[in-house]
Order: sequence, then C-alpha cells, then structure tokens
Amino acid sequence: MGIISLRSVAKSYASAGTRLRVLHAVDLEIEPGEFVVAAGPSGSGKSTLLNLIGGLDHPDSGTVRIEGVDLGRHDDRSLARLRNEKLGFVFQSFHLIPVLTAVENVAWPLFLKGMERRRRVARSKELLARVGLADHMRRIPARLSGGQRQRVAIARALACDPKIVLADEPTGNLDQRTAVEIMELFASLNRDDSVTFVVSTHDRRVVSYATRCLYLDEGTLAETPPEAMPHEDVHHA
Ligand SMILES: Nc1ncnc2c1ncn2[C@@H]1O[C@H](COP(=O)(O)OP(=O)(O)OP(=O)(O)O)[C@@H](O)[C@H]1O
Ligand SMILES: [Mg+2]
Repeated sequence: MGIISLRSVAKSYASAGTRLRVLHAVDLEIEPGEFVVAAGPSGSGKSTLLNLIGGLDHPDSGTVRIEGVDLGRHDDRSLARLRNEKLGFVFQSFHLIPVLTAVENVAWPLFLKGMERRRRVARSKELLARVGLADHMRRIPARLSGGQRQRVAIARALACDPKIVLADEPTGNLDQRTAVEIMELFASLNRDDSVTFVVSTHDRRVVSYATRCLYLDEGTLAETPPEAMPHEDVHHA
C-alpha cells in the first residue's frame, strides 16, 4: 500500500438545497517519494482532495489512509497529532495565526511537538531564511504581502520535517523568481529527503516538477502525462 491511499472516496457539499457532488469514488495510491501535481478547473475539487488527504475534512464514504492508517478511525485529537508528525500543509489561504510574527508562526508546530524554545526559534529562522524572508521574521501576517505570507506558510509546513507535504496552489501568490525558488526547494526535499509531495496548481511551471500528474474534472481523477496536461485554465504569473 502507498504512503497515501484513497479507496472509493466520495465527497459532496450541501449547496442551495441540493447536494454538490465534488468527488465521485476516487481511488488513488501515492508511493513514497512521488511528486504528484493535481490540476483541474477552478471548483473541480483540488482543495477538497488535499483537505481529505490531510484529514482536515471527512469523506462521505470511502477511506483515506496515511501510511496504512485509516484517518476515519481517528478522533480529532489523534488526527491533529498525526498531521503534526507526518504532514506539512500549505493552504490556499495561508491560515497563519494573525497575532503571531512570522518566526512565531513557523515555530508553532514545533511548540506543539514540545521542542524547546531556543531550538524552535533557531529552526524557524533557518527556514524563513530558506524561503527568502530573513528580513521579515518579526512581522505579523497583516504586515506582509500575499507572497510573503505564502512563504511563511511554506516554512511552517516544513518545520517538523514532514514525510508528506500537501500544498494547495503554493505558487499562486508568488512572482516568477520566488515561485521558481520555492519549487526548487520542494524539488530538493523530494530528491534528497524523499519527501512525498501532492501539489495542486494552475501553474504550468509547477507541472514541470511533477513525477506524476492528475487531472480533476467533474468529480473524477485522471492520470495524465505531464506533457498532455490541459493548459486552458493555466494562469500566468
Ligand atoms: N465547505 C464547503 N461548502 C460547500 N461547498 C463547498 C465547500 N468547499 C468547497 N465547496 C464547493 O466544492 C467545489 C470544489 O471546491 P474546491 O475548493 O475543492 O475546488 P478547487 O478545485 O480547489 O478550486 P480552485 O481552483 O478555485 O481553488 C466547489 O464548487 C466549491 O464551491
Ligand atoms: Mg482550491
């Protein structure tokens, strides 16, 4: 079994008195060390898929397993622990803690893990430097640009040395140069540390890093060779 395994996963949302079926019976096996890119039109369910893999949302039916562990069998508390130990999450809307500075946001998952203060601050500073934010460590999110917030979120996702990084449009708010730097950082973690990536994107530069591409449309997931990835919904940064 893969490091990530979805069996017959279905997800719908209540919408204007009806049910909007976002995912129909999705099956997916991701092996350790894969760099998976998920593309698809806006509203096709990319964020939904990542949230289900990350145990942030529950499927209507089917199972999601991380390293063989069925997330449906965990309560919220043990799911939170599993996420903190194994997963790094970059959210489309960042989800930074507004009252904490950049360095405190990155250090937060290390605090939850019980790392001692000096070590977690040092680790957080090192990560912020790696994403190009050495000069902005003491700012709160409201005083950072969208791209800077995104980089804080990326540093935070990497704080606990996750085995799996789930990144929802991680280059969506980044300029060309920063986007390439972030993707090179992801690629080096994938290549050197065998971190498994699942990245949703509209950005064809991201597709070029994939070892495997998925295309979501109308509730189903299709395997697509990277060169055949549809481009009609791609934004240009
Ligand atoms: N909590 C929710 N309640 C109701 N509907 C939702 C909810 N979350 C998502 N949806 C709907 O489910 C569908 C899939 O949404 P999702 O955010 O997964 O799409 P996406 O592929 O990530 O889109 P984008 O590229 O715009 O980020 C959309 O039609 C959305 O409106
Ligand atoms: Mg989305």
